[in-house]
Amino acid sequence: MRILILNGPNLHLLGRREPETYGRASLSQIEEALRETAAELGVEIECRQSNWEGRLVDWIGEAPERFDGIVFNPAAYTHTSVALRDAIAGAGLPVVEVHISNVHAREEFRRRSYTAAVCLGQICGLGTAGYDWALRALVQHLKSRSNREATHEY
Ligand code: DQA
Repeated sequence: MRILILNGPNLHLLGRREPETYGRASLSQIEEALRETAAELGVEIECRQSNWEGRLVDWIGEAPERFDGIVFNPAAYTHTSVALRDAIAGAGLPVVEVHISNVHAREEFRRRSYTAAVCLGQICGLGTAGYDWALRALVQHLKSRSNREATHEY
């Protein structure tokens, strides 16, 4: 099982970007922790980050060729991007949306997610541990789905 870990704009700055909101862990520390969780769960992960909406759209579009699901923090594009929503819907892979901060407790414009409705679910407000929960939830979902398919239970 292969999972794509995708991070959107400005998340390469984690650790020094608004630490009171996003914590002090860098993106590479978060990715390192996810590699440990992936090893524990017996899955492979690949971690990517881009500030470019079109690049994220391309990666999501190509994902079904190589991945079984995506953990995705679309960052600010969450609140603006119909293109990312359509990419997720079109890829047809289960996606768990992650936000480090509780977007519902912040500015009004952060309460709307264009992407959440086409995702399997959303985890927010649990800090950087949210990535770990998201990976575990996604793998659990994929494993139980493949068990159901193997036993022809739908
Ligand atoms: C974020 C929340 C977004 O509103 C913001 O634009 C980000 C990070 C989060 O992880 O809490 O860049 O996605």
